[in-house]
Amino acid sequence: MGMAQARIARLTETDWRAFAGVRLRALTDSLGAEDPQYRLESTFTAAQWRRRLRAHAQFAAVVDNRPVGLIGAQRQSTESVYLYSLWLDPAARGHGLGRTLVAEAVNWARAQRVTRVTLRVHVENATARAVYESLGFTLTAPATGAADEVMMTLTVS
Ligand SMILES: CC(C)(COP(=O)(O)OP(=O)(O)OC[C@H]1O[C@@H](n2cnc3c(N)ncnc32)[C@H](O)[C@@H]1OP(=O)(O)O)[C@@H](O)C(=O)NCCC(=O)NCCS
Repeated sequence: MGMAQARIARLTETDWRAFAGVRLRALTDSLGAEDPQYRLESTFTAAQWRRRLRAHAQFAAVVDNRPVGLIGAQRQSTESVYLYSLWLDPAARGHGLGRTLVAEAVNWARAQRVTRVTLRVHVENATARAVYESLGFTLTAPATGAADEVMMTLTVS
């Protein structure tokens, strides 16, 4: 795959079909087609996908005009943006694209004039943690709720 042609795009409501496709691929790859979240989202209507694109900023990694990766960014408060659901197609991994996706979401957060960006990651997910650490994220606390997750934070201003 020619990663030199990769670009990051902020998805808009008119991209809902492409968004649905890559999001459902991410869920089946990460959780499997029997997972309740996959089963729920696979029934989403166009209106529901559009609503999600209105509610949060969604960025896609695009190679040869095909979305191969995603990250979601949610304005949590006046001070913080929360990043979630980072995923790259297995065929697109290992070229630094994950880092580029996170960096774009961080740039968006900075433009929102928040002071920090937060995310949660599985404690054993060394690849994802390396990506976040390379951008300056540091471990802050065990994530509330899930014992196997940690919270990471980046101060942006
Ligand atoms: C996390 C993910 C998006 C990263 O994709 P990517 O950018 O292709 O990642 P890369 O393979 O290029 O690795 C990124 C960096 O981590 C390093 N890395 C890879 N595996 C590692 C490991 N086991 N331990 C430490 N570092 C590791 C790489 O060397 C690379 O650093 P470099 O650019 O300095 O060489 C991708 O692996 C993915 O989609 N995973 C499944 C979903 C997931 O885990 N999402 C995160 C949820 S919080």
